[in-house]
Amino acid sequence: MAETMKGLKRTHRCTEVSNKNVNETVTVMGWVQKSRNKGGIIFVDLRDRSGILQIIFEEDKCGAESFAKAEKLRSEFVVAITGEVSLRAGGINKNLATGDIEIIAKDIRILSESETPPFPIEENSKTKEEIRLKYRTLDLRRPDLQRNLILRSKVVSIIRNFLAEEGFLEIETPILNKSTPEGARDYLVPSRVHPGSFYALPQSPQIFKQLLMASGYDRYYQVAKCFRDEDLRADRQPEFTQIDMELSFVDIDDVLDVNERLLARVFKEAIGVDVPLPIQRMTWAEAMERFGSDKPDIRFGMELKNVTDVVKDCGFGVFTGAIENGGSVRGINVKGQGAMPRKKIDALVDFAKGYGAKGLAYIAIGEDGSFKSSFAKFMTDEEMNNLVSALDGENGDLLLFAADRDKIVFSVLGALRCEMASQLELTKKDDYRFLWVTEFPVFEWSDEEERYQAMHHPFTMPMEEDIDLLDTDMGKARAKAYDIVLNGCELGGGSVRIHQDDIQEKMFKLLGISEEDANDRFGFMLTAFKYGVPPHAGLAFGLDRMIMLMTGAESIRDVIAFPKIKDASCLLSDAPSGVDKKQLDELCIEVKVSEE
Ligand code: AMO
Ligand code: AMP
Repeated sequence: MAETMKGLKRTHRCTEVSNKNVNETVTVMGWVQKSRNKGGIIFVDLRDRSGILQIIFEEDKCGAESFAKAEKLRSEFVVAITGEVSLRAGGINKNLATGDIEIIAKDIRILSESETPPFPIEENSKTKEEIRLKYRTLDLRRPDLQRNLILRSKVVSIIRNFLAEEGFLEIETPILNKSTPEGARDYLVPSRVHPGSFYALPQSPQIFKQLLMASGYDRYYQVAKCFRDEDLRADRQPEFTQIDMELSFVDIDDVLDVNERLLARVFKEAIGVDVPLPIQRMTWAEAMERFGSDKPDIRFGMELKNVTDVVKDCGFGVFTGAIENGGSVRGINVKGQGAMPRKKIDALVDFAKGYGAKGLAYIAIGEDGSFKSSFAKFMTDEEMNNLVSALDGENGDLLLFAADRDKIVFSVLGALRCEMASQLELTKKDDYRFLWVTEFPVFEWSDEEERYQAMHHPFTMPMEEDIDLLDTDMGKARAKAYDIVLNGCELGGGSVRIHQDDIQEKMFKLLGISEEDANDRFGFMLTAFKYGVPPHAGLAFGLDRMIMLMTGAESIRDVIAFPKIKDASCLLSDAPSGVDKKQLDELCIEVKVSEE
């Protein structure tokens, strides 16, 4: 039968015991990592969240009763052990923080037994993720996940301290809401009291934090849970956490300044990384032009070159056709990869097609200066040479070209550039390169909807110098919006908000939101803003992504205690699940699930 804690107190976590405690009696508690009976001596590795400590049971020291209990120990039994700290008799284990000491046990209580676990509790587990997530409780005992979650906790507390020092107030906003216009699908919660009506879970606290500014709270922040029903990827979860903030009486520079100091503090205190300030800034247009991405990884070069002018009169119809249709031709130079086998190049073409390319043209330059190319037959020697020199092509280089509408060319080459860097291992995870991307367009054309949509959200302020463009050329108007990018990942984003009703009205009109619709959706905010609202701006970091990058974790799931998988289900609890008919009846809900 499992024993209890009665009359017992833990004195140390496993790795809090050190050679300074030699000859002292300590009581440690935790899980049996492993236990070996070497005939007369039993060695137990005891594990808690701090690490591992070796315990030794010898019958003449601990007595027959304790020795008999120690003989029963199996992996993952929970025990309390009292004993004397001693320098290791059997030589130092350099792999353990406590490798120079051991505990000579005097007494043991078995607090709980364990069945044989479905996988070993060890670092860098080879166990399939589905199994690990199903038994997440065991998985979370592994040292790498424990390190990740401990770091996560540390980061949040550093951020809280920093923001408090800077005069921010931590204020909670509601989870049951009217929908906020962040662009993803909402998770809905049916109302029992108002049958047929639904709350939406917040995609972010956007509107409420703006209301708090109107209420005079000046500087707000929140560690905010956000919910978005969107397709999941490696760096996305349906529920995730933002470090969300908003500031009054500020402009862009004030927001960037406080946030880059926040980043510098967090990276230094949590993982000892110096972030040189100020963080580099780049406009959205430059980021697209040079890197084909609004979240460029600037740890490596391989920048895009626009060769539209070089090829506009060439003989290759794919290039000239794209240009005639208003598109462009751009390329990247993959240095030293001219000998890439045909099969691998074909795989790159398929990769490009995955990003909407119709094809990918290439020139592989041999070490002897000869060209292997998918389109040389359409080109004169001079045209080929011009193209190669436009990309600074040298012997042994591989040049890749995409021809299409800018949007596709950027997305294809932006992705290829990162793919090549990953294949060629051009980047190091612990090389942290931050970048502010600024001056995002206000609007983004949606091919699906065939209209302009807000690139950020409809409360984002256009740049003062571009306000006139709203009437004449809205697609060109730039916003006072910014993203913070780290190693090709969008770590956070925000904007200066519109606090003037005439501009807000104009934005709604341009977005095709009628007055009635605007009042219906955001009327409570528009009304609130009629009674005096300060200029304000803010930003939100994705906390999960931040921790993922700080720990070098492969997936966002490795920094969240209980994550969901790709289909948004939880393998541990089996959520989502069906509910009782009675529950549905109370909500006046009838479920129609088609056969498929
Ligand atoms: P945005 O939508 O850019 O801005 O979100 C801010 C940051 O949150 C993180 N993030 C996610 N992390 C994990 N899983 C997801 N599904 C996910 N979606 C977003 C990203 C992103 O940069 N209210 C605005 C902020 C503002 O304007 O102040 C907002 O939510 O790291
Ligand atoms: P084709 O004449 O269609 O066989 O194309 C010749 C080469 O051009 C092939 O290597 C294609 O992959 C490539 N190609 C086709 N369309 C494009 C495009 N839009 N941009 C870049 N290369 C392309």
